[in-house]
Amino acid sequence: MMKEFLENYQLKITNFERMLPRFMKAEYFPVLHEAMSYSLFAKGKRVRPILVFETGRMFECGQDKLENFAVAIEMIHAYSLIHDDLPCIDNDDTRRGIPTNHKVYGEANAVLAGDALLSLAFEVMLDSIKTLGEPGIKAMEYIAKMAGPSGMISGQCADLHFENIEERTLKDLIYIHKKKTGGLMTAAIVSAAIIAGANGDELDILEEFGENLGILFQITDDILDVEGTKEELGKSIGKDMAKNKFTFVGFNGIEKAKELAQEKAEECKEIISRLKRKKGFFVDLIDYLLVRKK
Ligand code: IPE
Ligand code: IPE
Ligand code: MG
Ligand code: MG
Ligand code: MG
Repeated sequence: MMKEFLENYQLKITNFERMLPRFMKAEYFPVLHEAMSYSLFAKGKRVRPILVFETGRMFECGQDKLENFAVAIEMIHAYSLIHDDLPCIDNDDTRRGIPTNHKVYGEANAVLAGDALLSLAFEVMLDSIKTLGEPGIKAMEYIAKMAGPSGMISGQCADLHFENIEERTLKDLIYIHKKKTGGLMTAAIVSAAIIAGANGDELDILEEFGENLGILFQITDDILDVEGTKEELGKSIGKDMAKNKFTFVGFNGIEKAKELAQEKAEECKEIISRLKRKKGFFVDLIDYLLVRKK
């Protein structure tokens, strides 16, 4: 099963990467254009845009209606990685198998490339509003919330805050993971469902699913920071412990973290099972997240 899933997943990556260059056609100031492209076109897993398309498929919504949102969410993700790697945040040298943006273009250009990708993402979404109408506006509103201080940015801020706090609880840890990683996962899934015409009950289920999928994704990210290899992951390992990051591995130990990932995976499957739709891809994705090496 896993082999077939991975082959199909690779096709989904290729499909997405074929549409991406069209959205970087305008001419920006050369070094900015280069720095933006450097991170956006670097080899990532493209999980978030794939979640957009797969959620759309569940509700029989064609890819053409979702393209701009899939690209926009990957732009927001790329920006978040550039800023996450900066010396003032996680101070990382390698990302997606190549030197981090600021290592190549300098800190100032990396900050600006991140700013540019975030703004461009909204430009790209607005571009499709004319054809999408009201659901498009609702989807955009949701993404703005999840990418900003109601979502990812509070998660990133909490992640930094708890580096230096002795007293930290499981509740804090879940807050960090739900916000910093669950934010964009939820944004991808729920925005696509809104555009695809899902009803209120379905949106509630998908929101709960997105948050938990984000937590599962981040638990495995924490585990891979300890057990992964730089070659496979494309980023340095051992950084969380070195920075005293608040992670599931640090809090509970690696074995317990693996158990919790397993439990979270079951919970994700239970949530998605409530949806009366074809959800095969999501069940397979959950299984893949438990064994992923990158
Ligand atoms: C990395 O995200 C940041 C986290 C939220 C853990 P991904 O693991 O999706 O990174 P890419 O896109 O594949 O590089
Ligand atoms: C980052 O979490 C989450 C983001 C919102 C970018 P991490 O800091 O653990 O991600 P990696 O390990 O650097 O990819
Ligand atoms: Mg970080
Ligand atoms: Mg980081
Ligand atoms: Mg990490």
